[in-house]
Amino acid sequence: MTGRIFLKLILGLLCLLLPALVSVDYFATRGATDIYIQNLVEQRADNARVLALSLPDPAALDGASLREMARAARGRLTVVRSDGRVLADSEADPAQMENHRTNPRPELLRAFAGYVGWDIRSSATLGIRFLYVAVPGPKSLPGGAVRLAVPLAEVDRQVARIRGQVLVSTALAFLPAIAIAALVARRISRRFAAVMAHAGELARGNFRARLPHTGPSEFGQLARTLNDTAEELEKTLEQLQREHAELEKVERIRKDFVINVSHELRTPLASIQGYTETLIDGALDDPEHNLRFLGIIRRNAERLARITEDLLTLSRVEQKRQTFEFASHPANALLTEAVELVRPMAQKNDIRLEMEPAPAAAEAWCDSEAVSQILSNLLDNAVKYTPRGGRIAVGAAPAGRFLEVYVRDTGIGIPAGELPRLFERFYRVDKARSRELGGTGLGLSIVKHLVAAHHGTIRVESRIHEGSAFFFTLPVDESARHGERLNPEFTAP
Ligand SMILES: Nc1ncnc2c1ncn2[C@@H]1O[C@H](COP(=O)(O)OP(=O)(O)OP(=O)(O)O)[C@@H](O)[C@H]1O
Ligand SMILES: [Mg+2]
Repeated sequence: MTGRIFLKLILGLLCLLLPALVSVDYFATRGATDIYIQNLVEQRADNARVLALSLPDPAALDGASLREMARAARGRLTVVRSDGRVLADSEADPAQMENHRTNPRPELLRAFAGYVGWDIRSSATLGIRFLYVAVPGPKSLPGGAVRLAVPLAEVDRQVARIRGQVLVSTALAFLPAIAIAALVARRISRRFAAVMAHAGELARGNFRARLPHTGPSEFGQLARTLNDTAEELEKTLEQLQREHAELEKVERIRKDFVINVSHELRTPLASIQGYTETLIDGALDDPEHNLRFLGIIRRNAERLARITEDLLTLSRVEQKRQTFEFASHPANALLTEAVELVRPMAQKNDIRLEMEPAPAAAEAWCDSEAVSQILSNLLDNAVKYTPRGGRIAVGAAPAGRFLEVYVRDTGIGIPAGELPRLFERFYRVDKARSRELGGTGLGLSIVKHLVAAHHGTIRVESRIHEGSAFFFTLPVDESARHGERLNPEFTAP
């Protein structure tokens, strides 16, 4: 590819250079030839003048001495009378030659008029090209002319020599230009090839490819523009991939949700159905079992009611249909109420429940019902997943424009790998254990959405077999509700 571009560029440059070379050659050769012929004419005119002066009386002219003189002048000598008759000629018989006035030669006409005349043409007598130079005749030949003719082969040889020299020198003069042109063409073709390779990379979807910047030239600008385009495409692609992944995640959660809901409802329903049929089939009259069966039916009905209630709460909060009554509440009042609600259960399980009071002035801008629901869910978990003899601490501390509330326990802890999915609906670390404890896996999901409705965030720190700590934030006043969030990693979708 580079080769083809290079070839085209160099051919283009040669197309520009060649006419210049040809015209320089033409004009230089012509100029040099003109000067050469002019010099030759002057030199031959001098020869002719000297010969004319040394001519004997025309009446005494003999062929042998004329041929001698012509040989010395390395040419052909012709002596013409004023009426055009040829008196003598070193190469031909004057009697055979036509009258040069009735059949005029341009150089002779000039000489008859008293000037030097010259012409280049083929000789009518010998048939080869000559340079004819004629000068006015001597006193013994008034109005006549003496003409010296030299074969043009000599002139042509000289012109060819001049031409050769001109060609060589112009070619030498153009050589650096051609070398520079070749270098420039190679540079341009390489850059072109780089740009084309880059475009190919982009076409194949490799938006990470970048062209090296090459200064402020057009190529540099092109490289920058292409790099910017690639960057834009890369960003757009990443954005689309992120959105795609997000959509896939939402779709997975939706499918899981439907499956989970059906599953969670089916188990208690099947149980109710089974025991009801057993009772109808006669167990109703069996005093040993009927009360136990009815108790099972009641527990399952309660579980169904709890699941339905949790699902409704979740969907209300998620779809923002839940109305909240925001007001300023003292932090310690919110904590005390929640702690007292769960204390009987903690005592029953032999768990120490402690409140670590927040600064007296600490307040939260929140819906007290919702915060009570958040705290009771977290405390309920803490009690459920903390073995006998454990400890639970609840407290709060101001953190900028937020109040950070925590519930810490010394319970079973949560494996690190489970933490990212902990707040998903129906997600339980140990399904069987949670179900045994009456859990549905909706508690933390509700908590997450309630916290998000307060523009707060929730996070968890946990170590397996050591305990867990849940932290959530609430705004301290109305203005902070629209401010930035703490710990954005666990914000609700
Ligand atoms: N304090 C904790 N210690 C250990 N594991 C916990 C703790 N809190 C929650 N988990 C784990 O997170 C899971 C999800 O909690 P979540 O409150 O959503 O559901 P649940 O308690 O099982 O049921 P529900 O709250 O709906 O009655 C629990 O099943 C449990 O495995
Ligand atoms: Mg729970």
